[in-house]
Amino acid sequence: MSIITINYPKKIIYSIIFYLAIGLSACTGGFKDTVMSPDGKIKIQVSSEDGQIYYAVSKSDKPILNRSLLGFVLQDSDLYKGLTITDVTFDSFNETWEQVWGEERFVTNHYNEMKLSIQEAGGMSRRFDLLFRVFNDGFGFRYEFPEQENLNDFVIMDELTEFALAGNHTTWSIPYDIEAYEGLYRPSSINALDTVCTPLTMETSDGLFLAIHEANLTDYAAMNLHPRNDGTTLKCYLTPWSTGEKVFMKAPHVTPWRTMIIADNEAGLLLSRLMLNLNEPNRIEDTSWIQPGRYIGIWWGMHMKEYTWETGPKHGATTANTKRYIDFASKHGFDGVLVEGWNKGWEDWRSFSFTESYPDFDMVEVTRYGAEKGVKLIGHHETGGWVSNYEPQMEEAFTLYRDHGVNAVKTGYVGTLLDGKEMHSGQFAVNHYRKVIETAVKYRLMIDNHEPVMPTGLQRTYPNLMTMEGVRGQEWDAWSNDGGNPPEHTTIIPFTRGLAGPMDFTPGTFNFTNKAMPGTRVQTTLAKQLALFVVLFSPLQMASDMIENYEANPAPFEFITQCPANWSETVVAEAKIGEYVTIARKDRNSENWFAGSITAENAREMFMQLDFLDKGVTYKARIFKDGKGAHYETDPYTLNIEEIEVTADSVLVIKQAPGGGTAIIFTKKDDLQ
Ligand code: NOJ
Repeated sequence: MSIITINYPKKIIYSIIFYLAIGLSACTGGFKDTVMSPDGKIKIQVSSEDGQIYYAVSKSDKPILNRSLLGFVLQDSDLYKGLTITDVTFDSFNETWEQVWGEERFVTNHYNEMKLSIQEAGGMSRRFDLLFRVFNDGFGFRYEFPEQENLNDFVIMDELTEFALAGNHTTWSIPYDIEAYEGLYRPSSINALDTVCTPLTMETSDGLFLAIHEANLTDYAAMNLHPRNDGTTLKCYLTPWSTGEKVFMKAPHVTPWRTMIIADNEAGLLLSRLMLNLNEPNRIEDTSWIQPGRYIGIWWGMHMKEYTWETGPKHGATTANTKRYIDFASKHGFDGVLVEGWNKGWEDWRSFSFTESYPDFDMVEVTRYGAEKGVKLIGHHETGGWVSNYEPQMEEAFTLYRDHGVNAVKTGYVGTLLDGKEMHSGQFAVNHYRKVIETAVKYRLMIDNHEPVMPTGLQRTYPNLMTMEGVRGQEWDAWSNDGGNPPEHTTIIPFTRGLAGPMDFTPGTFNFTNKAMPGTRVQTTLAKQLALFVVLFSPLQMASDMIENYEANPAPFEFITQCPANWSETVVAEAKIGEYVTIARKDRNSENWFAGSITAENAREMFMQLDFLDKGVTYKARIFKDGKGAHYETDPYTLNIEEIEVTADSVLVIKQAPGGGTAIIFTKKDDLQ
């Protein structure tokens, strides 16, 4: 992997000059330290007032965050009063780094940095640093605790970080305590929010788009946001341990970055890579075994009650059925087959063995057969949330998979609490998930983490962390008693959960009937199912339906068999949260582009300028679109496929049905001859 780096370090030396020139000159009453984004538009000011530390943020001189408090309540004392700023240093950085996989190949990481040393003026003289990084598309900051005598092992009871928003913006969020983040994101004004998870996405009345989240959540609790009394100030609310503490800390240690994307439009939210930039660079030297790809699975059949996870007459994970899926995967170019329900323990979803198969599943035979056909088994570890049952078996279970050529494992933590007491977003969970990722590296296993803690960009450091759930995925269209995901759901999640990283949403339903639960079903057209493969990024992308339903529909299935899961460029052609989004992506391994466009419950016309295509080249556009009369409620199946020639000067305007969509493959005409 090549890294292109342009550094402007020369830290400390310049800091005093820089500080005097930029910091003090920007003072507007009171003592304020200031750092600006590289383009000079976003400004962060930090001040110390009556022994308390505050920060404020503006863009182009318009306030984004008013004076917002920083600090902590510790178990036996406060760490937000009697503080002074003892030193300030500045730095700048500009590099371009290459992603092992992603929505684009290269990422620009360009920021200005300000580091403030904070110390108690009296008492124990405890200290911490505040590190701010300001990018052109937002900022991040974190607290850093150096090793010191009077602050070694300590317990955080509350992190007081505030976001005093400058207006009562429209927000999209889910409640903080919803199980595994599997909720519908609802619009609300800030003053009507309860405690919510991040990412919290906002639209201001000036047309700015903001998203508060965090980056690099390591040995800490996830951040949620809780409203303050004044209505537009949100305060950090860390997920507690079952015993009430928030975080057990041991210095030296840092908090995760508290981040905010500040974008001029919806596209800016989707294209911001601030969260990834605030994670540490890749720690895996040889990444040849990390392979994005498409997979199918013995999966939807269980959710539709055609199969069972546990062994018996309707057992899905039999050797014979797995071979059938492997044959299909091999024929249609899928990289893997996920097999759920292969191992003992599904009778009570608790006492899982991760090494013992049910008698009708022969791991040796299916992996031998898969190797012959060029298809990998994707492993499955459902824990039922019983971490204490999983961790002692993990090394042996990973060894088993490695020895049988398995290179990806889907993990799962169904249940409201881990080990019956800890939340999926608390420090206990964060540390467990990290242990899984790091252990998986040793065994060269990619991870697809279901029921995770909300992702925070760790895939930059551990690119074997491929994808995660943490979203109300397509499985809800099989069994949710509210009828399934409403059509607008997929036009909201790219701008909310999607900002936290890849989603294993598992699109691709081709048969919309539901014998097990007739009132519940996928609420889209078939064309929209195809478009989701582009819109919802996941480097392991599942085509989730049963293979019979693909065999019955070969024409639209062609799109799924062509659509890659790893990209070199991403373009957002148009977007409106909750209404529509149109995205084009260039394949990482060819010159082909793919587009996906989706609408919520309203019919509309997709509008896409093709100026991302190579100039002066004619492309064949193979278009999969809603046919006449298509409608997500009454006629989800009608779909037309057409081919036209286009160039970079073309504009595509295509009708979309209610709950519909469009999927397009662009191939260079010359490449076809
Ligand atoms: C919930 C997961 O999201 C789903 O994909 C899986 O099939 C079941 N748990 C069983 O592990």
